[in-house]
Amino acid sequence: MGSTHHDPPADRPPGGEPRRDLLTRLAALTCGGLATLPPVLAGVWTFLDPLRRKGAAAAFHPVAELEAVPDDGLPRRFPVVSDRTDAWTGFASDPIGAVYLRREKGSETVQALSATCPHAGCFVEVDPQEKCFRCPCHNSRFAIDGGIVPPSPSPRAMDELECRIGPGGEIEVQWQNFYTGIAEKKARS
Ligand code: FES
Repeated sequence: MGSTHHDPPADRPPGGEPRRDLLTRLAALTCGGLATLPPVLAGVWTFLDPLRRKGAAAAFHPVAELEAVPDDGLPRRFPVVSDRTDAWTGFASDPIGAVYLRREKGSETVQALSATCPHAGCFVEVDPQEKCFRCPCHNSRFAIDGGIVPPSPSPRAMDELECRIGPGGEIEVQWQNFYTGIAEKKARS
């Protein structure tokens, strides 16, 4: 009677307000921490990206069906595409280079040549009349099998790539980038 003391409600323990406040703050801190996690991980992933690309560079990539390369001895150009996915994102197919594929009459053996000029990295083109490759940048000329035709500023022949026919009949090429401007065919690591 006339007392000024108020008991806390049954659902609130004595001192409940400060404790709930503390819990709310902890939850907010935790959420804030989680919110910063994806950007941090994305940063790490971006940092690792060149390493992942390096691993993918030496892999075999399906490039074309065997029937897509006519057996007339003339090279056909195809893009080399790498599919990349990670835990968060499905990346669009990523072109990483281009190759020329060629096969002779009645043969299932395919020759794969990198379309990158060994001189300074331009894309070489096919001259179907002369049955050879030409580079538009500094006029290097290559035979249809990739051999160098002098006089050409390129220090070496076109870079041949390993290729194989996959179980489904598709041509798979082991894509690699090589250093340009040097006589040695040296893969970039
Ligand atoms: S880049 Fe091809 S000739 Fe120079």
